[in-house]
Amino acid sequence: MEDTKKSLSGDSQIKSKERVSTHGEVFTADREVNAMLDLVKQETERIDSRFLEPACGNGNFLAKILERKLVITKKFYSHSRAEYELFTLIAVASLYGIEIQEDNVEECRERLYHIFLQEYSSLFTDTINKEYISSIQYILKRNILWGDALTLQTPDGVKPIIFSEWSAINGLIKRRDFTLDNLLKNQPMEGPNLFSDLGEEAFIPTPIKEYPPIHYLKIYSHADN
Ligand SMILES: C[S@@+](CC[C@H](N)C(=O)[O-])C[C@H]1O[C@@H](n2cnc3c(N)ncnc32)[C@H](O)[C@@H]1O
Repeated sequence: MEDTKKSLSGDSQIKSKERVSTHGEVFTADREVNAMLDLVKQETERIDSRFLEPACGNGNFLAKILERKLVITKKFYSHSRAEYELFTLIAVASLYGIEIQEDNVEECRERLYHIFLQEYSSLFTDTINKEYISSIQYILKRNILWGDALTLQTPDGVKPIIFSEWSAINGLIKRRDFTLDNLLKNQPMEGPNLFSDLGEEAFIPTPIKEYPPIHYLKIYSHADN
């Protein structure tokens, strides 16, 4: 419990010597996290800019990115509850993590949830929208995954890691699921090739499943797979 508290607050870099030797678990200190994030400062302040922390521990990088994004949603959207909720949900949905130790996965989800909840409840003190809370929790469950970032599978090696992309379309949220394996493969495109701004061949991954766009408050009702 003591260890969990320390790691949740981000002020302890090591939980146990055994975990260091078994999993290389040494958390990055806040100062280094912030210095590294400052290298891509503009992206950390862009609400829908996506980040994947592939061995996320309890989320030291993801937590700081979320805090930065929430400064922006507060600044620009807190005048309207609906707008704040939508853009904050997009900020949460832009963060992805993979971690091989299950307790870290839980801690990371909890930590991001508490950062969100603290800010949300300080801005909207009257009532908490239960559907909204459930949708945020659902996204954290889908985005912060228990997995092996080397094999790109679940730790038991049974299933591929599947991430959901959440995109805002006319105020609705569309979900598309991709295997991480497919996202990382630099497959050539079928048909005429496209090129990125940097002149590299563009790669368009193929979703394994697409969902119709739905209202952001209804995301929790997506059937699990
Ligand atoms: C050096 S710590 C870094 C944690 C976090 N990214 C940070 O900077 O504070 C490495 C983390 O990777 C996890 N890990 C080790 N091997 C992994 C693998 N194959 N797939 C996913 N996570 C892994 C460990 O459990 C540990 O939490």
